[in-house]
Amino acid sequence: MTFEIKNICCIGAGYVGGPTMAVIAEKCPHLNINVVDINQQRIDLWNSNDFSNLPIYEPGLSEIIKKCRNKNLFFSTRIEEQISSADMIFISVNTPTKKKGKGAGRASDLKWVDASARQIAKFAKGHTIIVEKSTLPIKTAETIKKILKTKKKNLNYNSTESIEEKTFEILSNPEFLSEGTAINDLKDPDRILIGGEDNDAIDSLIKIYSHWVEKEKILTTNLWSAELSKLIANAFLAQRISSINSITALCEKTGANISEVSLAIGTDKRIGKHFLNASPGFGGSCFKKDISNLVYICESYGLYETALYWQKVIDINGWQKKRITNIIIEKLFGTISQKKIAILGFSFKANTNDTRESPAIEICKELLEEGCNINIYDPKVNASQIEIDLDQKQTPNSNFDCLEGGWALSESILECVKEADGLVIMTEWQEFKKINWEEVANVMRSPAWLFDTRLISNSKEAEYAGLNVWQLGFAN
Ligand code: NAD
Ligand code: UDX
Repeated sequence: MTFEIKNICCIGAGYVGGPTMAVIAEKCPHLNINVVDINQQRIDLWNSNDFSNLPIYEPGLSEIIKKCRNKNLFFSTRIEEQISSADMIFISVNTPTKKKGKGAGRASDLKWVDASARQIAKFAKGHTIIVEKSTLPIKTAETIKKILKTKKKNLNYNSTESIEEKTFEILSNPEFLSEGTAINDLKDPDRILIGGEDNDAIDSLIKIYSHWVEKEKILTTNLWSAELSKLIANAFLAQRISSINSITALCEKTGANISEVSLAIGTDKRIGKHFLNASPGFGGSCFKKDISNLVYICESYGLYETALYWQKVIDINGWQKKRITNIIIEKLFGTISQKKIAILGFSFKANTNDTRESPAIEICKELLEEGCNINIYDPKVNASQIEIDLDQKQTPNSNFDCLEGGWALSESILECVKEADGLVIMTEWQEFKKINWEEVANVMRSPAWLFDTRLISNSKEAEYAGLNVWQLGFAN
């Protein structure tokens, strides 16, 4: 028997909570969905009438918000109220790497999950299904259960009010969306994974997804397999990127070409063609955090070889960023102090405004450290975000001639490359694929270099226009 779901509450209005609930609202108009957050500013932006200024940029998202908001999709900070009236609660809060204390730099910080569980324990009424949407260490459901159980027993014997029993079921339903393609991923997922112990609760969630996802794509497992599979999926994806990135250096030394190698190996069905694009390293809020967490979990079970194996995936990623910075400095005659470098792209991948763990951050910081002045252009990332990421205010005057280690945000590609000695393509934004190299070469300072870390430029045209070209994974 499925438990009838009418009201859904989602705790956390971020990159996962916002788009996921928007798609559920669109596909299930009979459901009432409340997305709640402690961040008032974020909620105000979700409720803003300027649909180009939602807190998250995702292709296709603003159209759904326009259609569903204030009909069956609501954003607010009324957390207690929405928890009380929900039949099903998704926990979509952040689970970043711990910054201090035990496990700092590796373990996930679960304080926001803990706080959510306590709020649910306090305010939920009747029977409630709790869905873990956040990516969590294996066995987190055990902790959540304990928090919910304590509150159930916490009866107030002095009160004359009748105490209604609260009951809970916990499901793990990790999210596999990628930023930049989140709406498509949510509408047409490869699979939906639901782990749980209670068939009725599982069926209630299956019923929701069945409104748009074929039954065959909905996998059910035990709680621990679902929790662990999310970490392992991210670890495998990141491992492919580190594998191909480790080979870029070998290609550069030998004359093999990384694009040809990717194609040649990826056409083998057993290997597959996806996630073999060489890059300055994987960024984003998930890969490093989740593998670090996996390493930490393995170590805590005494599985040191497994931990070491996955740690290497992270190490290669750091090495790739350092390697690229060193090549830039070397090509610009060993010194970049007071030179100007244009950075094209600051987000961690195309089609998102998210900069978390973007390789551009570390590379820019190192260039600034060397005394270089940088101009940054990104179609979606704003100056205040870059100030936070670089931990440095934007230089007010973009005339850098007598400066050392300043940065400024440009409004266009041409403004960004003006009088620059080098240009680095960091993100694979569509507009960078169509650059007019003649125009660019005309405004750069000669001898000018193009460093293409995403392999998206037409190197022949750039060379013809007079630029020196370095491409990742090519002998140049
Ligand atoms: P996010 O930081 O964008 O959003 C989380 C939101 O939760 C924030 O707005 C925060 O204010 C809110 N929050 C925290 N504690 C709260 C509380 N007690 N009550 C109400 N709101 C609270 O994070 P995200 O990128 O959406 O990621 C959320 C989870 O999903 C993480 O575990 C992440 O690993 C996982 N995940 C992320 C992605 C992705 O692409 N970003 C994909 C799959 C899974
Ligand atoms: C990832 C997972 O793909 C997704 O399933 C999970 O839910 C969240 O984490 P996301 O981080 O949003 O998604 O983007 P993804 O497309 O995986 O890219 C991550 C990073 O890897 C980006 O910096 C991207 O540029 C890089 N990447 C990706 C490569 O360097 N090469 C590739 O071939 C693919």
